[in-house]
Amino acid sequence: MTKITWHGHNTWQIDTGKHTLIVDPFFDDNPAAKVKAADVSADFILVSHGHFDHVSDAASIAVRTGATVLAPFEVANWLKKQGVAESKAVGMNPGGGAALSKDGKPFGRLKMTVAHHSSSLPDGSYGGVACGLLVDLPGGRVYFACDTALFLDMRLIGAVGIDLAVLPIGDLFTMGPEDAVEAVRMLGPKRVAPCHYNTWPPIEQDAAAWAQQVRLHTSAEPLTPEVGEPFEL
Ligand code: NI
Ligand code: MN
Repeated sequence: MTKITWHGHNTWQIDTGKHTLIVDPFFDDNPAAKVKAADVSADFILVSHGHFDHVSDAASIAVRTGATVLAPFEVANWLKKQGVAESKAVGMNPGGGAALSKDGKPFGRLKMTVAHHSSSLPDGSYGGVACGLLVDLPGGRVYFACDTALFLDMRLIGAVGIDLAVLPIGDLFTMGPEDAVEAVRMLGPKRVAPCHYNTWPPIEQDAAAWAQQVRLHTSAEPLTPEVGEPFEL
């Protein structure tokens, strides 16, 4: 049984029963998170782009836990400079995939997808391009759009069949609620969950109202998980 927990913003924890994956670790400076980076366990850390609200705790968690980090190429190189071991930082780019395996046993796969967003690192250095994350797990396929605008190629991403889509609805830096409903129509996932909202006042949104629009205009089941409350994939 694979469980997913939202830690606010675009920070997600996936527990497959055997492995723990963390998406875009942003705990210590995240006003919405209920746990601190020092208390997080991880076997894998998946990073979408270089902005501070997606990478700020990646290096510390990776160094403490020995987790493998999969990140856009330039972000992976930057994480090595922050102390992540050479062998534990895997650089990728959109369209590329990598097996998720532990002790020589593959249990899933990550494919990086295109996203329309910028990507500078916290020190201002170049972060390459921002990515979305398509993750195959024992419990199903999850698409984390991560920080992005709406784009027509979401139809292509959705064509593989998505069990759960995770979409930003905060507006200002990413898609807002209306574009996120259109994204659900294009992706055609079985279920969809919102993120990247209510972390700070500029991205406050009404998730319940958004879920109602998803029910009205798409065939997906909207989930609006509470921070720290796991649900089953
Ligand atoms: Ni960003
Ligand atoms: Mn962001």
